Amino acid sequence: MQTVVTETNNQLLILTISRPDKLNALNKQVLDELHDIISRAAADTSLRGIIITGAGRKAFAAGADISEFSGFGIEEGTELARQGQERVFDLIESCPKPVAAAVNGYALGGGLELALACHVRFASKNAKLGLPEVSLGLIPGYGGTQRLARLAGKGKALEMILTGKLIGTAEALELKLLNHTVGDPDELLPYSVEFFESILDKAPMAVAAAIRSVNDCFREGVNGFETEIEEFGKLFGTEDFREGTRAFLEKRKPVFKGS
Ligand code: COA
Repeated sequence: MQTVVTETNNQLLILTISRPDKLNALNKQVLDELHDIISRAAADTSLRGIIITGAGRKAFAAGADISEFSGFGIEEGTELARQGQERVFDLIESCPKPVAAAVNGYALGGGLELALACHVRFASKNAKLGLPEVSLGLIPGYGGTQRLARLAGKGKALEMILTGKLIGTAEALELKLLNHTVGDPDELLPYSVEFFESILDKAPMAVAAAIRSVNDCFREGVNGFETEIEEFGKLFGTEDFREGTRAFLEKRKPVFKGS
């Protein structure tokens, strides 16, 4: 049985992690399915964006599945983090299509790390965010120490990681972990879909170039300004650029093909 349910809405792919009885904990199957679905979606020209959410009203994802790794040793633990980071979390961050997390409840441990790997994050008021791994004798292993520090700064990241405390949406907004919040969980998906409306009519090649350029601001040893110059230049060779500028001069709306 699938643990990640997919649905398309206009040009958006909505992924729902569906293990509600386990608060959508990220087991190997969920991660494998996320890898496969997101790899395919990245190459699918009919799609312009992805939304990830959790089934039920209680959790986005309450972390990596503790029952799967409780018996691991050093090598398996290292591999768990390496595989997870490379196959899923880095894949999401470098996806050429915008990926939004719709956080509808607990986003803990790997669940928060999943949201942090997305390009933008929205949450309903019942969301609780945290990296409680130190309570298990661990640290975040799916990129949480890095991505949280980048968003919230070193001091606040260490405060959250060392205490393992959960925060609500007001604090998460203040720490820049969230882009926007809505009230009821039922409002979250409609809000997330509406957010994408202002991206769907933009040039897909430019959207992808913007993601790559901003990502390179945070890549060790990479000069993001150089990436920006290269990406900017490459866009002059696209049909989208010709259409965008032509439409402006002809005073009409552009129709982008993503090429
Ligand atoms: N891994 C595996 N199973 C998990 C899980 C996780 N990260 N988080 C929740 N579950 C399971 C519980 O074991 C329980 O399963 P069961 O009904 O078969 O016993 C089910 O989900 C419901 O969770 P429960 O703890 O009963 O709900 P609650 O409302 O009392 O508490 C939480 C909710 C989120 C506070 C609590 O589940 C929790 O602390 N989860 C672990 C969070 C964590 O440490 N995440 C980081 C992992 S690296």
